[in-house]
Amino acid sequence: MNNAAYHVPVLYNEVIAALNIQPGGVYVDCTFGGGGHAKGILEKLNANGRLIAFDQDADAQQNIPPDERLIFVPHNFRHLHRFLKLHKQTAINGLLADLGVSSFQFDEAARGFSTRFNGPLDMRMDKRTEKTAAQILMQYNETQLHKLFEQYGEVSNSKTLARHIVQQRANAQLKDIASFKLLLQPVVKGNPNKYFAQVFQALRIEVNDEMGALNEMLNQLPDVLLPKARVAIITFHSIEDRIVKKFFKQANDEEDENPFSTKKKEEIFKIITKKPVVPTAEEIRRNPRARSAKLRVAEKV
Ligand SMILES: C[S@@+](CC[C@H](N)C(=O)[O-])C[C@H]1O[C@@H](n2cnc3c(N)ncnc32)[C@H](O)[C@@H]1O
Repeated sequence: MNNAAYHVPVLYNEVIAALNIQPGGVYVDCTFGGGGHAKGILEKLNANGRLIAFDQDADAQQNIPPDERLIFVPHNFRHLHRFLKLHKQTAINGLLADLGVSSFQFDEAARGFSTRFNGPLDMRMDKRTEKTAAQILMQYNETQLHKLFEQYGEVSNSKTLARHIVQQRANAQLKDIASFKLLLQPVVKGNPNKYFAQVFQALRIEVNDEMGALNEMLNQLPDVLLPKARVAIITFHSIEDRIVKKFFKQANDEEDENPFSTKKKEEIFKIITKKPVVPTAEEIRRNPRARSAKLRVAEKV
């Protein structure tokens, strides 16, 4: 499979330009996937440059190019600092995170991410972790389910949905996607495809603790970025976008907790994109999966 079939990189030119790549610098790609953005970064690096690429999904490893400047880390980017330390690269010139799942993951029925196929209720990006979508549906209580469908899926009748799952799950065999969709039939509101997509998005975010990983990674940035290092983050839904926007802003606004401190409040990031960069109509026409992408960029002061 070629890389374009695995995943078409989103906002490619915009990301490569935003990173302002120094040829001999050290860069991190938190989300290697099909390696599309990584290839663009490597093309801008000279022989001394380095790219440290994370991906927690073993399938992404089939896309690793034979390039000595690339260090692949097969783990969650929430351990950013730990692995940078391991590879003796704790001062970096830039970082990219292109969040969510790749087209390859989404299109593989056996991974359980898509509502279009039947398959297991799995949705784990990292198969070494334990919690699957089926376990969440069988084990979470009504309040937990309600909260996750409301927060991560913005499902309009999330309370009704949670109650319905809890009432029905003892009798139903939630063995796969088809049986789950069947169980949902009585509570589907509006367009069923849209409804299922929202429910699946919420489950996927919870299975992979996507918000937890994003927050942990962001909080490590001030310690690893060199002055003038650029951070480029592509998000695909409003919850993630809000976290990134708030982080860039709040990192600057944070008060010094010591009331006797005479230190002036320091600015940590210069925000490069006041408004997020979104794909052109032409990119969305070529790659409809780019349609909800938003790129935010900041520079370490
Ligand atoms: C949208 S794709 C990235 C595509 C890539 N930029 C390209 O050009 O092909 C996201 C990738 O990041 C990985 N991923 C998502 N969250 C992750 C995390 N917290 N830690 C490590 N990898 C993650 C997924 O397994 C997936 O392969």
